[in-house]
Amino acid sequence: MDMFVIQGPTRLSGTVVINGAKNAVLPLMAAALLARGKNVIENVPRLRDVHTMIQLLEILGARVTFDKHVLTIDTTRLKRLEAPYDLVRTMRASIYVLGPLVAAHRRARVSMPGGCAWGPRPIDLHLMALERLGAKLALDRGYINATARRLKGAEIVFPISSVGATGQTLMACVLAKGITTIKNAALEPEITELAEALVSAGAKIEGIGQTTMRIEGVEEIEPLKYRVMPDRIEAGTFAAAAAATGGKVRIDKCNPSHLESVLHALRACGAKIQTGRDNVYVEGPERVDPVHVVTREYPGFPTDMQAQIIAVLCRARGTSTVKDTIYPDRFTHIPELRRLGANIRLDGNIAVITGVKMLKGAPVMATDIRASSALIISGLMARGRTEIRRVYHIDRGYEAIEKRLRKLGASIRRVSE
Ligand code: EPU
Repeated sequence: MDMFVIQGPTRLSGTVVINGAKNAVLPLMAAALLARGKNVIENVPRLRDVHTMIQLLEILGARVTFDKHVLTIDTTRLKRLEAPYDLVRTMRASIYVLGPLVAAHRRARVSMPGGCAWGPRPIDLHLMALERLGAKLALDRGYINATARRLKGAEIVFPISSVGATGQTLMACVLAKGITTIKNAALEPEITELAEALVSAGAKIEGIGQTTMRIEGVEEIEPLKYRVMPDRIEAGTFAAAAAATGGKVRIDKCNPSHLESVLHALRACGAKIQTGRDNVYVEGPERVDPVHVVTREYPGFPTDMQAQIIAVLCRARGTSTVKDTIYPDRFTHIPELRRLGANIRLDGNIAVITGVKMLKGAPVMATDIRASSALIISGLMARGRTEIRRVYHIDRGYEAIEKRLRKLGASIRRVSE
């Protein structure tokens, strides 16, 4: 297993280019199952999660090539409509294939994902929506067996906002007979991206980017030809790292309008920020100011940046709070940050962070994608040597992060344990 060795402290400086968005690519890869033929998706990041999804599509019988960030998925001959437990348990987003398979192939067998390190993360809303569209679902030995005739449009009202359930429903209902209305649809840019990609392939969707969407089902859609938007969480992570290290970093090929809540928080911390059409420049202060952050659905502060902002605040001049309203248990990074000398108390779903003058390097362990990027940020801030174990978590969501940080002047190496 690989680990990262960081020698700190570092001030990041230079330019980093942002890759395509993981959480936009994964549903698009599942949406490729809706049409027969060759789908082409561009600007696809080289991530472990993308490779897991490729493996899943290949098990289903798709022919996949992945070269220079271009992914082709040929779905002409699918053979086995099953997503096995071994893949679904390593990546929950595998559940996205359920809707497209039922909609386009009238049946599917998909493993239930099970729990996750930071809570139960149910999929009840995905299943509720598919049943409302007419799919028959049965649980068999941990698998959802789904069958359907052609799905039928319906009104679907989500009691809470869910990115996954909205994406799942969209993919299923574009081929349903009649009209589907989705109420309380998620507003995250990854959902807008999915809707736009589906429209470009012939789907009829109104209300994109709004909480109520109206979809008129069509008989078939064309294979996708789509270029994926930049990853707002990757851009936010580099912005946080620049602010935390007192660095000067230009973040290129990103979409600043997707980053407003994150940039607002970093400005409140004392970072100087300028935005251009597709870039952001961040200049961090000597030590950040304390702030109070609450994660919310888009356009609120993203839960996927919660761990990173906590890392930034570990050296603030005073006490900050960070509350996660989306995943109240997503705090596995806190005990690890404490090993570096951070002063953090957890009060329910609120982290209370009292800034310390300096963090000190230590061996720590990554527990999930965003927790690991928080550990990297704190390793860059800390004096001395930080070793981060289990970096496979970070490889799920960030392409070659150590090389890109080295270009920004960081001392970070990947070594085999
Ligand atoms: N929820 C339910 N029932 C459902 C679905 C969700 O109760 O059927 C709850 C969840 O437990 C949570 C809330 O609804 O409390 C929101 O969850 P959501 O469905 O929006 O999350 P997701 O689709 O499972 C995606 C991202 C996550 C990101 C969340 C929130 C992908 C592949 N994953 O998950 O990304 O944290 O939205 O924005 O898009 C990551 O990239 O590190 C990551 C975890």
